Amino acid sequence: MKKSLKLFSLSSLFLLLMGANSFGATQPKKDPKIGIIGAMDSEINLLKGSMKNVNSKKIGKITFYEGELQGKNVVLFRTGVGKVNSAVGTDIAIREFGVDKIIFTGIAGAVDHNLNVLDLVVSDKLAQHDVDLTAFGCPLGLVDEEESPFFPADKDLIEVAKKSAVKVLGEDKVHVGTIISGDQFIADKQKVISLGNSFEAKAVEMEGAAVAQVAYAMYKVPFVVLRTISDKADGSAQISYEDLKTAASDHSAKIVLEMLNNL
Ligand code: ADE
Repeated sequence: MKKSLKLFSLSSLFLLLMGANSFGATQPKKDPKIGIIGAMDSEINLLKGSMKNVNSKKIGKITFYEGELQGKNVVLFRTGVGKVNSAVGTDIAIREFGVDKIIFTGIAGAVDHNLNVLDLVVSDKLAQHDVDLTAFGCPLGLVDEEESPFFPADKDLIEVAKKSAVKVLGEDKVHVGTIISGDQFIADKQKVISLGNSFEAKAVEMEGAAVAQVAYAMYKVPFVVLRTISDKADGSAQISYEDLKTAASDHSAKIVLEMLNNL
């Protein structure tokens, strides 16, 4: 082989190994930026206190904290309660901060009566129980122009969440299943039974399915929702919720920390 040809092939091999594109410019592997969302202060406090090198930026009513958590680049923020708040926050996180993955952390009421307070639910799919086009023959929860009422969470994130949760809480406290969301705090036995019948859900809360709609249906950004049970969504819901809000929020947050070690 001629010397010049040999040199050319060696340099091509070097560029290939460095991840060079066809124009010869090297492309350093980009670390993923992970959006971590809670609705209330209690749901993000533990994580906020553990972040390093934090820069904060306020957009509208939401303060976004950019920095490092368990050595990963994250954007942490609290949206406020309800579907509109969480949809807006998710949209900003994707468009302004360029998050590549989303984890929602927080608390929920149990719909499946086999679940106990402080159990954890990892979403495999989510639906909005208060979206109702049944008058037009659509299934309950179907958002106009969507094919199904259910927005699926990302398979890899579900696996990491499940493994992390089992490691922290033990197998019997971890459940994977449907989470439903609506702009209502559910505290009524008949209502929770009817929601259970309509959606076969494990848990009910007020934000997750809106995050899912924006992340999955709008932008195809992978996401997962983690919810620790704070109440049974029946007549005892308010009391149990107030008593367990902080403990249940910290439960989910600890699973997020473990997840970050595995992402
Ligand atoms: N978040 C926690 N508990 C809830 C409930 N019972 N209904 C709606 N959101 C909740």
